[in-house]
Amino acid sequence: MIQDHQKPPRRWRGEIEYVLISEEQLARRVRSLARQIQKDFAGGDLVVVALLNGTVVFLADLLRRLSLPLRLDFIGVSSYRAGTVSSDLVFTKELRLNVSGRDVLVVDDILDTGRTLSQVTAKLGKQRPRRMKICVLLDKPARRVAKISADYVGFEIPDQFAVGYGLDYAERYRNLPFVGVLRPKMYQHPDVIPPLPPGIKPATPGGVAG
Ligand code: IMP
Ligand code: MG
Repeated sequence: MIQDHQKPPRRWRGEIEYVLISEEQLARRVRSLARQIQKDFAGGDLVVVALLNGTVVFLADLLRRLSLPLRLDFIGVSSYRAGTVSSDLVFTKELRLNVSGRDVLVVDDILDTGRTLSQVTAKLGKQRPRRMKICVLLDKPARRVAKISADYVGFEIPDQFAVGYGLDYAERYRNLPFVGVLRPKMYQHPDVIPPLPPGIKPATPGGVAG
């Protein structure tokens, strides 16, 4: 049963099955992540390295809560993703700042199989940063393939495909102010390509931890 507080706003009700993480929960958690990060990186020379494009919304909120000197750079990665599963990783934008001897905070939207972040951190590691930590909004430990974990996790979520607050399905839904789960029919919708690959679980309402 979908509870009242999980009902999406009217505008999105046709496409979103239920709200997994509300705007208020996101705001609260981002504030506490920022406090923790600020404490851990005080006095260092921090470079925030964010992965495009899924981090934009989370990153903008997080950055404004960090009152410490930092520089920001982006890495572009594309995973030839057929909708909801990732395969080979291609770098579409390289880092411009030098992170040798610096403190690095790598920010991504979600840690899923872990393939993306393990390749990105391996690449950054070659520059020999002083230390490198990982911050993700969402973590889906059930799907992990690569041996990697995040130092800062906004929310641990069940094995469900999440959209909103930067996360997309076929490049859509990044602008939702909350994190939600799509109605299964959207995976077949002609306006929303590509179709759902096999093995993706249908939406069932569930809570989140974190
Ligand atoms: P990984 O390499 O499997 O860990 O996947 C990481 C990337 O896949 C993330 O940066 C997302 O862009 C995408 N991804 C994985 N799971 C989801 C999801 O539930 N919703 C939206 N994008 C996802
Ligand atoms: Mg994506």
